[in-house]
Amino acid sequence: MIPFAVPLTGDEQGGGSQLPRLRKISKGKLDLQARYLTIGAILLFFVPTFALLTCQIFLQASSLRQETTLGPHVSLRVSYTGHAHLALPNPSPEDDTDYPDITHTKDAPQGLVSPENTTTAITISVMTPQQFVSGFSGSIPECLWRGHSLGCEYVVPRNDPFLHMRSEAVFYHGPNLCLEYHQNKTRVVKSTRKQLAVLLTMESAAYYPCFDDPVFMQAFDLEISYRREAQLPIGYLRKDHIEGWRHDALVSFEKRSDSPVYVQSNCRAQTKRDSIVRYLMTFPDLKIRSFGRCLNTEGQVNGTTESKIDIYRRHKICLVMENSIATDYVTEKLYDAFVAGCVPVYYGAPNVEDLLPDPDSIIDCRAFGSTAALRKEILRVSGNRAVWESKVAWRKRRLGQLSPAFQAQVLALTKPSVQCQLCSMLADYRAGNTSLVQQFRDGWDYRSEEQKQLESRQFLLSNFFGY
Ligand SMILES: *[C@@H]1O[C@H](CO)[C@@H](O)[C@H](O)[C@H]1NC(C)=O
Ligand SMILES: *[C@@H]1O[C@H](CO)[C@@H](O)[C@H](O)[C@H]1NC(C)=O
Ligand SMILES: *[C@@H]1O[C@H](CO)[C@@H](O)[C@H](O)[C@H]1NC(C)=O
Ligand SMILES: *[C@@H]1O[C@H](CO)[C@@H](O)[C@H](O)[C@H]1NC(C)=O
Repeated sequence: MIPFAVPLTGDEQGGGSQLPRLRKISKGKLDLQARYLTIGAILLFFVPTFALLTCQIFLQASSLRQETTLGPHVSLRVSYTGHAHLALPNPSPEDDTDYPDITHTKDAPQGLVSPENTTTAITISVMTPQQFVSGFSGSIPECLWRGHSLGCEYVVPRNDPFLHMRSEAVFYHGPNLCLEYHQNKTRVVKSTRKQLAVLLTMESAAYYPCFDDPVFMQAFDLEISYRREAQLPIGYLRKDHIEGWRHDALVSFEKRSDSPVYVQSNCRAQTKRDSIVRYLMTFPDLKIRSFGRCLNTEGQVNGTTESKIDIYRRHKICLVMENSIATDYVTEKLYDAFVAGCVPVYYGAPNVEDLLPDPDSIIDCRAFGSTAALRKEILRVSGNRAVWESKVAWRKRRLGQLSPAFQAQVLALTKPSVQCQLCSMLADYRAGNTSLVQQFRDGWDYRSEEQKQLESRQFLLSNFFGY
């Protein structure tokens, strides 16, 4: 209120010499009255508005802090539901659907976009240091939304509150935030109530338990991750994997070594996969070969994916073990094996069957009660050409004949980039479609009663001010 008071006193004092002169003329008197009336009216309107605005900003700031500080004191039920809704019918053996053209997909078809129809750009504030989220920076070209060209920009708002304030969303790399969370330091910062917080993670919830922690998750509104329930699911399957098994000639059974092969360089994984391999190594007839840093038997350590696939190509069976056990957490290791055409002995995601091209495409460790039983199965597959070939036969099938969940993964690769998909989602939200955000919130039983009350109070205020 002080800024408004200053011109008023200035006018009274500075205008002191004019005042007696004006009083003599009645027309001037009227002018003066009009002036005071105008100033009064302006003050009447602006002072309360200013006060309310200050209150609103204060309320918002304090509630934001409440809304987003993640502390262990809040306890809520876990309502992260299972995968029931993802169950799909079996593929029909006659389905003739073939793979889509995945090599030439673009974010937007050419010639469809006109400059007049460009929608107001979506801006996303990237809150995690760039080295963890490379690719999420700058403007994303050729992003389409409802047939219009959508400006889509990832900005770094560091030290620029205005950039932060005009962003539709704040974007966080989950693992970084999760580490801070365990030190009680996590703060998801939103500057307006309409802003959404987006979590991205490709790391397993077994390594980062906060991704299963509702208190942590409730600070967000959308999830991009390997989990298939995520609003924007992204798997480890890549286009070159698909190209690999579709177009590379399969090295024949005879040209491959019987020895199961293990290539691993992180030897301290949560799953203790090395212990399993060490047990298997106690069977001399298996003759397990290890090329990686862990349990190396070959004296050669080559870490790159390419040489790994080359190694896999020379073997009938490969040991594919994830670093942790988490639902949907199936990494590129499995797809590398598929490209090479070696049969994976798989240990990892408890629901791996949901993500396989064919139920018979792996040797599933869980199906065997002991390493001795697993040994028998490995010997059965590597010792019989027909059995081995039946396990790689899916490679030459049409897409429509593979499992529906696998088809979905392949088709997801024809979509625009993740960066563009996120912008489109935010444009949908801005246009009033809150269904995905609602889905996330329902999944995490978002908001305590206290927070909901606070929000409904805020809602009245923000409706009054239109934001
Ligand atoms: C822009 O979009 C509107 C409605 O979607 C359409 O009628 C119009 O033809 C478009 N303009 C151009 C130049 O494409
Ligand atoms: C975090 O806060 C909780 C309770 O407020 C406390 O018990 C815990 O020790 C804190 N952790 C760290 C790493 O400061
Ligand atoms: C490892 O790499 C070297 C050259 O970089 C290559 O000569 C060798 O064959 C590779 N070893 C394996 C096991 O792939
Ligand atoms: C809102 O978005 C969801 C998910 O993208 C979509 O399935 C639904 O059709 C949309 N609803 C409307 C009314 O556009």
